Amino acid sequence: MCGIVAYIGPREAYPVILKGLKRLEYRGYDSAGIAIAQDGIQVYKKKGRVSELEEFLAGRDLSAHCGIGHTRWATHGEPSDRNAHPHTSADGRLAIVHNGIIENFAQLRQELVNKSHHLRSDTDSEVLIHFIDEIRLSNSCPLEEAVRIALKRVVGAYVIVILDADHPDLLIAARKGSPLVIGIGKGEHFLASDASPIVEYTQEVVFVNDYEVAIIRADELVLKNISNELQTPYVQKLDLELAAIEKGGFPHFMIKEIFEQPRTIFDCLRGRLDAPSGTLTLGGIREYAQLLYNTRRIIMIACGTSWHAALVAEYMIEELCRIPVEVEYASEFRYRNPVVRTGDVIFAISQSGETADTLVAIESARQQGAIVFGVCNVVGSSVARLSHEGVYTHAGPEIGVASTKAFTAQLAVLSMIALKIARENNTVDDTRYRHLLHELESIPGKAETVLLLNEHIRQIAVKYCQARDFLYLGRGLNFPVALEGALKLKEISYIHAEGYPAAEMKHGPIALVDESLPVVILATRDRFQHKILSNIQEIKARKGRVIALVTEGDEAVTALADDIIAVPEADEVVAPILHVIPLQLLAYHIGVLKGYDVDKPRNLAKSVTVE
Ligand code: F6R
Repeated sequence: MCGIVAYIGPREAYPVILKGLKRLEYRGYDSAGIAIAQDGIQVYKKKGRVSELEEFLAGRDLSAHCGIGHTRWATHGEPSDRNAHPHTSADGRLAIVHNGIIENFAQLRQELVNKSHHLRSDTDSEVLIHFIDEIRLSNSCPLEEAVRIALKRVVGAYVIVILDADHPDLLIAARKGSPLVIGIGKGEHFLASDASPIVEYTQEVVFVNDYEVAIIRADELVLKNISNELQTPYVQKLDLELAAIEKGGFPHFMIKEIFEQPRTIFDCLRGRLDAPSGTLTLGGIREYAQLLYNTRRIIMIACGTSWHAALVAEYMIEELCRIPVEVEYASEFRYRNPVVRTGDVIFAISQSGETADTLVAIESARQQGAIVFGVCNVVGSSVARLSHEGVYTHAGPEIGVASTKAFTAQLAVLSMIALKIARENNTVDDTRYRHLLHELESIPGKAETVLLLNEHIRQIAVKYCQARDFLYLGRGLNFPVALEGALKLKEISYIHAEGYPAAEMKHGPIALVDESLPVVILATRDRFQHKILSNIQEIKARKGRVIALVTEGDEAVTALADDIIAVPEADEVVAPILHVIPLQLLAYHIGVLKGYDVDKPRNLAKSVTVE
């Protein structure tokens, strides 16, 4: 949700910022801009992708050693040159880039208008820089102090970085609720919304905390809290390689990330699961482990794809552990006054670890006495920091906006958690426990086999890519997978798709079935397959076109379906990890065939840091 980059040091700032914006474009891409400290401040911004800004700036003298940049995902005001960042103060001496939402911006805006401020954009960000400047001028105080005073009045989430024409050797940054990383080089500093623009320059980083203000010079980083008390920066080493954030020969990040899954699932299990010895070690769950095993109720909080992972976990945990699980959209949970009791366990699931609704839901659950376990992918993210304990998914950076490898890693982690609880509580017998460990361990190898179906799935995509709607059906653990398949298709092909429990079809969606409707049915060999067969008959009787996901060697479904995708057999508890992969590929190929930019689907952003 908007990407921010800034640089201060001996290098030319523009190339560093431009490259950083390209790396952050997955966070938002409706407009982009930069401000550099050159003869005061020069601001350049453009509606569209970062490449359009680059073209616009080609051939200009942009030499400067300090600058800020932004790639936008609109919240206030349509995407346009005027609303693009950076925004400037009335006299143009301050420039700001901002990620987040200022919730009381209308009130602040009115106050400024009453004081004759002329605002040129529709954004809350421009209001913020005018507000800060107003405080600075009326109090005759340094910028740093004005920022602190302003932020005490601001309601909402933000990361800001400010460039000051009068102090071109200085950047001021602050955060609340949105991420900010500062990379520490030799006599230089790099700032960004995540570590991907920083990793090629330095591995030493500081994750700025909420309510901290950073005063940054080329050779100095000072952190203060909002009450002006010095804070000691906690310097961490990045565990991120440059190769992990580049496409490595694939045409899109999404397909690269789909193909990475055998490795990412393996990495997620590595060091934790040892099937031959029957052990499961989850290092991130220690102090609160007994509380987890003894809990009488688990609530899962997440959004989007992570919510689908939570739904799979509900099926797994209730099946294996006999503990009731409720799955909540974070955005509903935070506002609907849910019943949370001391001793309840919350799982907050998030790839980015920065989803605004999930963060607020965690805070509210903690206030009500719950213990929170985070399952997230980004090390050091806000979910990781707000949770009591947790388990990282270790899928590596996910750049494609549509989540793929993070989802399968979440499922791998959640399967291990379910198995761990079941083992501790003796709710599965030894044979089943060991069988499931072996099944989980075999998933990376089976995922390799599924990926061999890529070309076959592309052919299916060719056949159906002109459809207007799709229906995805599944039962049991395959139901959330159907939801996820439909979401992937919607996101990147803009085809309307719905996921449903197969039996629910008769309560409504069957009305949609005719010869133009492709129905993707998860019909693998499990205890529901005979029921699914009846559902397929019902669809065929209404001339629907069935694309069935079946188990290798299947005959019954194959005889009925128009197209089949045959995957290796897997125990139904861990099979969702495998079954989603063909659905990811189908969505990918349809999106590509329709000519869309699958890595940057319209209106979406990777990390939803605003509610
Ligand atoms: C879908 C997708 C989104 C995210 C959702 C939650 O492909 O990526 O639905 O799953 O925005 O994001 P995280 O997991 O970062 O909290």
